[in-house]
Amino acid sequence: KPEYYDVFEDFHGVLMYKPFTKYWDEVETFTASLDDLVIASYPKSGTTWASEIVDMIYKEGDVEKCKQDAIYNRIPYLECREENIFHGVKQLKEMKSPRIVKTHLPAQLLPESFWEKNCKIIYVCRNAKDVAVSYYYFFLMITAYPHPGSFPEFVEKFMQGQVPYGSWYDHVNSYWEKRKNSQMLFMFYEDMKEDIRKEVIKVIQFLGRKPSEELIDKIIKHTSFKEMKNNPCTNYTTVPDEMMDQRVTPFMRKGITGDWKNHFTVAMNEKFDMHYMQQMKTSTMKFRTEI
Ligand code: A3P
Repeated sequence: KPEYYDVFEDFHGVLMYKPFTKYWDEVETFTASLDDLVIASYPKSGTTWASEIVDMIYKEGDVEKCKQDAIYNRIPYLECREENIFHGVKQLKEMKSPRIVKTHLPAQLLPESFWEKNCKIIYVCRNAKDVAVSYYYFFLMITAYPHPGSFPEFVEKFMQGQVPYGSWYDHVNSYWEKRKNSQMLFMFYEDMKEDIRKEVIKVIQFLGRKPSEELIDKIIKHTSFKEMKNNPCTNYTTVPDEMMDQRVTPFMRKGITGDWKNHFTVAMNEKFDMHYMQQMKTSTMKFRTEI
């Protein structure tokens, strides 16, 4: 495993994975189309889940069409650039509209063009504690990532924003602050876990389509955790082991709310809550850590 700061660097105040910032120019100058849809999130917030829901809506509930390719090809990951396998910008440029764009960039690093064109944005978010847990396992699995240390050590880094895409607190607030002047839908992982039907209807309506019962039912069935875990087009098993070693821990790991309770000690939790209050004191954004 490589050293931490050989892999990540401070980039305009946000810790970023170096291979992604190396060719930053092509990301920064990316030209959005009016009909691009952006799915933005902090890593491990339910991006893949929300993405599959959106793609099902675009494909009008046609499961076969969604099973024609891996999710990272149907919905390219904008800033991702990894050897010859991933090249988000290139993939998007070659894609016919309407495009769906995945990104983990905080609002201030999202290419200006998306804001200028006032593209629709779906921001997916999840409570910080479950994100930290999920991110920890993700770290263990991504071969190019350094070892995250023990879980308590990783949580310290998470709190300090010393993880890729920086501070979770800044990230969620960066989009939240923009919500009034843009076409944005916020999706909370916890709401999706609690009442997926309600959230699917919200997305369908946000995309300006009609929520037929048939479409809703198909989406709910196809995007359940169990289905997505067993679907090679959504579970990332098509990524080579040399990049993502799912023998360590699967990408579709648990898919629940509240797993943090199995990982945080009482002392860690108290410290985290204190810090959380500090970081979020000026924010009106409210998260649930259990449902
Ligand atoms: P866990 O590691 O807690 O299981 P992202 O797609 O943003 O990387 O987020 C990954 C997290 O979302 C993982 O969380 C994964 O299991 C969970 N997830 C993916 N698909 C899901 C689904 N259909 N239902 C519930 N959780 C899902």
